[in-house]
Amino acid sequence: MLDFFASSRTEKNLDALAADKVAINVKDLTLHFGEKRALHSISMKIPKNQVTALIGPSGCGKSTLISCFNRMNDLIPGCRVDGSVEIGERDIYHRKENVSVLRSRVGMVFQKPNPFPTSVYENVVYGLRIQGISERRVLDNKAESALRNAALWDEVKDRLFESALTLSGGQQQRLVIARAIALEPEILLLDEPTSALDPISTLTIEELINTLKDKYTVVIVTHNMQQAARVSDQTAFLYEGKLIEYSDTNRLFTMPREQQTEEYITGRYG
Ligand SMILES: Nc1ncnc2c1ncn2[C@@H]1O[C@H](COP(=O)(O)OP(=O)(O)O)[C@@H](O)[C@H]1O
Ligand SMILES: [Mg+2]
Repeated sequence: MLDFFASSRTEKNLDALAADKVAINVKDLTLHFGEKRALHSISMKIPKNQVTALIGPSGCGKSTLISCFNRMNDLIPGCRVDGSVEIGERDIYHRKENVSVLRSRVGMVFQKPNPFPTSVYENVVYGLRIQGISERRVLDNKAESALRNAALWDEVKDRLFESALTLSGGQQQRLVIARAIALEPEILLLDEPTSALDPISTLTIEELINTLKDKYTVVIVTHNMQQAARVSDQTAFLYEGKLIEYSDTNRLFTMPREQQTEEYITGRYG
């Protein structure tokens, strides 16, 4: 009963969320790859300092949607975006938006860990060096704090100058998260961050995600429904490029409003 009231309250908030509580405001977003429409008129408000999961079968548009939140689709030829994505009351698709500043405010981590073939330390301070920071003390402090926040410090503090490629897959993924965190982003986008990892590393990353929302807004794509249920506050279910249902996570997995959601969460299609 309590749960029900808690979830119906959250649900109401998603639609009528106060502007200062919204991290990403997606308005009537439609995306085409050439002739093919990959996203159909999606509107959703993603709350600040919470974890929002995007789920749905392979090819439904999860990666396409999350990539719109830092304009990673810009480089794809034939890609056209209509509608708007507001972050901090500005439409990031406005022609005057500075996309490299945007990408430091909105960090992204992909399925396969992609550390640079340099040391652990240089991976973490990479973005800071690009921003022109070179003072050793500043870099050291920021590297340590990013590695601590990514729950990796204790494992790497004695091997900061070894190659990042000597780390395990799970450590590499936390290193990539530290690299994004070092830039103090507002939002972290995680596109299937654990699907290349073993169960123990997956658990470590899920625990990490739980702590990250104190500081950041997290959006995570996962094809693993248990993972969405474990880590997220609200869940969006996408199907064939459409947002079918967007609700409090408990609600979506226990009392879905839409039949398509129910069919998906009960495993009737992949
Ligand atoms: N670069 C691209 N060019 C053309 N079509 C694409 C491209 N990327 C994705 N698509 C298509 O858009 C749809 C959504 O893909 P995607 O967002 O990758 O799905 P998901 O991440 O949910 O598996 C799919 O039909 C896919 O084939
Ligand atoms: Mg994908």
